[in-house]
Amino acid sequence: MKTLLHINKHAKAFSNKTEIPTDLSLYIHWPYCEFKCNFCNFNKYVDINSPNSKVESSILKEIQHRLRKERDRRIKSIYFGGGTPSLSSPRFVSEVINLVSKMCILPSDTEITLETNPTLVEIEKMKSFHFAGINRCSIGIQSFKDSILSWMGRDHTGRDAVQAIETARKIFNTGVTYDLIYGVPNQTTESFKKELEYALSLSSYHLSIYQLTVEFGTRLHKDIKAGSIKLPDVDTLADMYETAFEVSKNQGVNRYEVSNYAKGSNLEGKHNKHYWEGGDYIGVGPGSHSRYTISDDPGNGKISTINIRDPKSYMESVATVNHAIAKRVDISSRDELEELIVFGLRTIYGVKNSSIDRITNGRKSLKNIFGLETVQRYIDDGYLEWVLNESDNQMTRSNLKLEGKIPNALVPTNKGMQVIDTITLELISTLQYP
Ligand SMILES: C[S@@+](CC[C@H](N)C(=O)[O-])C[C@H]1O[C@@H](n2cnc3c(N)ncnc32)[C@H](O)[C@@H]1O
Ligand code: SF4
Repeated sequence: MKTLLHINKHAKAFSNKTEIPTDLSLYIHWPYCEFKCNFCNFNKYVDINSPNSKVESSILKEIQHRLRKERDRRIKSIYFGGGTPSLSSPRFVSEVINLVSKMCILPSDTEITLETNPTLVEIEKMKSFHFAGINRCSIGIQSFKDSILSWMGRDHTGRDAVQAIETARKIFNTGVTYDLIYGVPNQTTESFKKELEYALSLSSYHLSIYQLTVEFGTRLHKDIKAGSIKLPDVDTLADMYETAFEVSKNQGVNRYEVSNYAKGSNLEGKHNKHYWEGGDYIGVGPGSHSRYTISDDPGNGKISTINIRDPKSYMESVATVNHAIAKRVDISSRDELEELIVFGLRTIYGVKNSSIDRITNGRKSLKNIFGLETVQRYIDDGYLEWVLNESDNQMTRSNLKLEGKIPNALVPTNKGMQVIDTITLELISTLQYP
């Protein structure tokens, strides 16, 4: 019996058939925008000469190809992101959803999100997108202040942003989320606090609060380099981050990831959570990324692919070979483990022992995967905690020494979340695997 168990535990190492997880998420990248914001370096293009129908039919063709071997998969979530996917047609969105439902298992409660810019034209289309099958609307508000919006280069006003949230709430009910950005030039903690309180009074089901990041190749990057603008200093940014946490908490809205907040765990975004938990996903459209398990791979079974970024080359590739994969890489167990730690520690759920057990085929646990001295130092200093029991969702947290127990999870504290990227880097440098 002992021997049999041993063989089963390590079966993956000897077989080149990998067990395929059932759940799969789908990401669809819309590559066009009507304008370019000064901070954004996403894969987006302003191209008035390219009709929507061309990229729409390429994406549909690519889905047909990429999902052809995934018929037994249950679709956990579909995410239309961009660029500005609310510039696409509701007919296209409906065709995508119909196609996916024919090719895979599409349960009625699958989360289907569309990113929307709060311009008047796009607000008018919300009802049609809902009718097409969208049940969650993610609105790029960024700010309610016209002076900040115009500095960012957005083409909507604060009033449009309010109207977008109000309309979306009527149509999508609790399926409304929006993005805010803090840390813009001349912003004070007090003015950000007022904006956030105002935002939460409009809708508090779900929101993402991002610190403005200076990305290479953007107008913002050039202006900072030229010294023509200055961002708030590190201490002010830390105050703003803490303020976001406190103001939201007072409204019953909890931070569940470094930048994501929800009013209750049932309103947390399923699509991103699936990514953070290391779930399989396929991305279609220009520049999209995929990470998923394939059955006939001799390695870990997981691969990562990246599509061609430029829309014209993307469309040409799909027309000739039905896909636009520019790069394919095998993901090793070590890579998978590192990703799980990076993404897991950014959430309140942390890194689970069950995930370590799965990825290492039972060879390692949370107790012996990291340099324990490093972990203990972060625990003693109040940055990390062990979760010892997890029953009825009530987590018993501890900053004590393990004393022989294997913990359920390693999670960041509120203080730890502020500096989690630094902690993660150090923990990964102590990883004892393979
Ligand atoms: C790529 S956009 C797509 C949404 C939509 N096009 C819009 O702008 O409303 C997704 C979100 O990423 C965030 N984002 C993009 N670049 C950023 C940056 N440099 N710093 C902080 N947030 C950023 C914005 O909040 C934006 O709403
Ligand atoms: S933030 Fe949105 S609208 Fe602005 S350039 Fe990026 S993708 Fe386009």
